[in-house]
Amino acid sequence: MSKTARIGILGAGGIANEHLEQIIECKCFVPYAICDNNTAAMQETGTRFGILNGLQFNDYNELLQCVHVDAVIIATPNFMHYPMAMAAIQAKKPFALEKPVALTLEDAKEIYEAATAANIPNMVCFSYRFYPALRYAKMIVDSGELGEIHHVYGQYIQGIDTHTPRLWRYEKSKAGAGTLGDIGSHLIDMARFVAGEFSEVVAQDGIIVNERPAPNGEGLLPVDVDDYIHFIARMENGATGTFASTKFAFGRKNAQRLEVYGSKGAVVYDQEKGINKLYVCIGKTYGRTGEFVPVDIPGEFQVKQIEAFQSIISGKDRKLAASVEDGYRVQMMIDSLIRSAQERRWIKI
Ligand SMILES: NC(=O)c1ccc[n+]([C@@H]2O[C@H](COP(=O)([O-])OP(=O)(O)OC[C@H]3O[C@@H](n4cnc5c(N)ncnc54)[C@H](O)[C@@H]3O)[C@@H](O)[C@H]2O)c1
Repeated sequence: MSKTARIGILGAGGIANEHLEQIIECKCFVPYAICDNNTAAMQETGTRFGILNGLQFNDYNELLQCVHVDAVIIATPNFMHYPMAMAAIQAKKPFALEKPVALTLEDAKEIYEAATAANIPNMVCFSYRFYPALRYAKMIVDSGELGEIHHVYGQYIQGIDTHTPRLWRYEKSKAGAGTLGDIGSHLIDMARFVAGEFSEVVAQDGIIVNERPAPNGEGLLPVDVDDYIHFIARMENGATGTFASTKFAFGRKNAQRLEVYGSKGAVVYDQEKGINKLYVCIGKTYGRTGEFVPVDIPGEFQVKQIEAFQSIISGKDRKLAASVEDGYRVQMMIDSLIRSAQERRWIKI
């Protein structure tokens, strides 16, 4: 596929605009077509990124029929991921799909199986895989330098306005899960990326604000998805750990932390301290035993997600980007954590 493949973007909201900005910055794609059922948002974004009027669509099926669209980015709310991904597979368009990949485990499995059977290049936007410190942490863990992994501790916490309107994110029928699906899915993928698969979990979740203002300003609407999720886990490599994700961590913006403790060393990733440093303690190699040394990340760990997508659709290296299989495995965790919290018991993954 040519270096300047033409991209169709499905959605014109927050993350679609970020994808388009990354496309402009890397110059690796042409923003070619756009779709959103909100015409005003579509025209505003489409015009800003130079997409012709004739290539702006309210119906995603029309965009997918454009023969000149080489690949699509699916950046709509969670409830549109399954129909759009299945339609992209049907239209034989390579696709990047936002997370979480679906509302249910069954839908995630179907996307994975259909994309695999049709051999459609794909990426799931677990974007923190492209933070240099996390990539470096993965390399150190994979190298075996930490020895046997005993513990993995993870946090992805934010503090938000409790008066945020009841947007689609707070409805189970549109989001599938709340904080768990939104930022917890990233935390799960970050832990898998660095330290391997989960094998067993026990979770506790809850809703803190049960009703939120209707987006049209008229009254309050119920919330039926989690505001926070806490869980204990065992991993396939024998490690055990604890994980927390909430949107009620007062004062926190986008705080991620992942700690991996092995028999010979440890690494600590702390997003709030910067994504270009990793805190490492491995005896002689990185510093004196017992001291965590901030290590600068070598240049080869600087990779952009959009560049990985370009590489994937060109049939080259995935550059460690997540696939629909990863999306399915994360959905398995989401499904298991919800069941564990409901049934108050350990669940095998
Ligand atoms: N990877 C990340 O770090 C990251 C960050 C933010 C959001 N996301 C994910 O991206 C997705 C979108 O989130 P957002 O914050 O951009 O949401 P958003 O609400 O800001 O934007 C969604 C857009 O999709 C449009 N839309 C809804 N239904 C549609 C349909 N049937 N056809 C066409 N367009 C439709 C809406 O009009 C809106 O413009 C979610 O799945 C979210 O989890 C990922």
